[in-house]
Amino acid sequence: MSDLFAKCRSFEDAKRIQAAGIYPFFRPIESTNGNNVVTHGKRRVMIGSNNYLGLTHHPRVREAAKRAIDQFGTGCTGSRFLNGNLALHEELEHRLAKYLGREACLVFATGFLTNHGVLSCIVGRSDVIYSDRENHASIYEGTRAAIGETVKFKHNDMADLERVLQLTRSKYEGALIVADGVFSMSGDILRLPKIIELAKKYECRVYVDDAHALGVLGPQGQGTEWHFGIPGQADLVMGTFSKSFASIGGVIAGNTDIIHYIKHKARAFMFSAAMPPAAAATVLECVKIAEEEPEHLANLWRNTRKMHRELSGMGFNTLGSQTPIIPLLIGDDFQAFAFTQKLYELGVFATPVVKPAVPEGCALIRTSYMASHTDEDLDYVLTVLEKLGREFGIIGNNSRQDELAQLAHHHFGQILGQQSQAAMHV
Ligand SMILES: Cc1ncc(COP(=O)(O)O)c(C=O)c1O
Repeated sequence: MSDLFAKCRSFEDAKRIQAAGIYPFFRPIESTNGNNVVTHGKRRVMIGSNNYLGLTHHPRVREAAKRAIDQFGTGCTGSRFLNGNLALHEELEHRLAKYLGREACLVFATGFLTNHGVLSCIVGRSDVIYSDRENHASIYEGTRAAIGETVKFKHNDMADLERVLQLTRSKYEGALIVADGVFSMSGDILRLPKIIELAKKYECRVYVDDAHALGVLGPQGQGTEWHFGIPGQADLVMGTFSKSFASIGGVIAGNTDIIHYIKHKARAFMFSAAMPPAAAATVLECVKIAEEEPEHLANLWRNTRKMHRELSGMGFNTLGSQTPIIPLLIGDDFQAFAFTQKLYELGVFATPVVKPAVPEGCALIRTSYMASHTDEDLDYVLTVLEKLGREFGIIGNNSRQDELAQLAHHHFGQILGQQSQAAMHV
């Protein structure tokens, strides 16, 4: 026998980084206008947020949230199944279904709970999930909670998906292919048309997690299917409201009978309290803004194209990202922490991504851009990144850049020599 808490006492990883003065997590934000934050008394440009459309501080959104508090109070104090179902939740579901071009939607309290709840209730004992290796942790947890089996395929690699389908599909009854629409660390877009083709060939259903695609891809930000001009082709589309839609919550969209089943079976929906009124009202207003104010999406892509162009031009390896998520490949974990700390000291807030979130030796700095960033914000960020990139030997050093290109090729399947290209769809 041993003490259950022994592992907590011997957990040293975070303490080592803290002692070295380069711990980048849990920085308390004292105030923010979205694209700039004040931390430790100093203003810094935020390039570590998922506030893609910059709507967290939009006057219409703030007003809608305040009105909802006046009408419904601050919380729902229970599950929607029982006492917490507001007319506002249902209005939001109808509006989202229309926006996404779907028969029905169901909103959950968070995106994490959406993936967990849906995957665990929809996949039975004799079924299988085919899951991209770079899927988000909430999909991993959902697949672990599901009683069926999970088979992983190489990141966004359709030849590998077909290989595992050929090898295993006949062993199972139902099958679901699950993947992020935009991958949260590498910022690349799922090869959805090919997934749909394989799903038809091998009799699978398709589930797309559009957490980072909602508000970002497609003519009005409706997501990955719309980006490829194939709305309605995936069977289920999941989204979160913790990114472009400036709040918290999650949604699953699909056919009426499937959503009805999930509503009565997903334990993460039934046994967890409802999304608070201010959050539901915020998201409803964000959907209206996505439809009525195209300038936010246009600005997001203008900023995204600028940052891709400039960062690739400097020689950063951005892992083939095509979206506002632009990772900078650094390599060593410690170097990524040190780089992030220097950025912070120079007034830029970003976060490193280290193992196990990425393979050993492939640490990144994940940068992401918003519609509301000004040219002044972005030019400042570029100046600082170029200075530090050179100081750390990440750019301006051909042999190091070749090494990073090999790493990107080996671990992320990026084609050698191919730099990122923002999807030029807007
Ligand atoms: C791809 C993806 N799916 C799901 C989630 C979970 O969403 P939430 O933070 O709204 O719970 C996230 C959040 O980071 C995500 O990036």
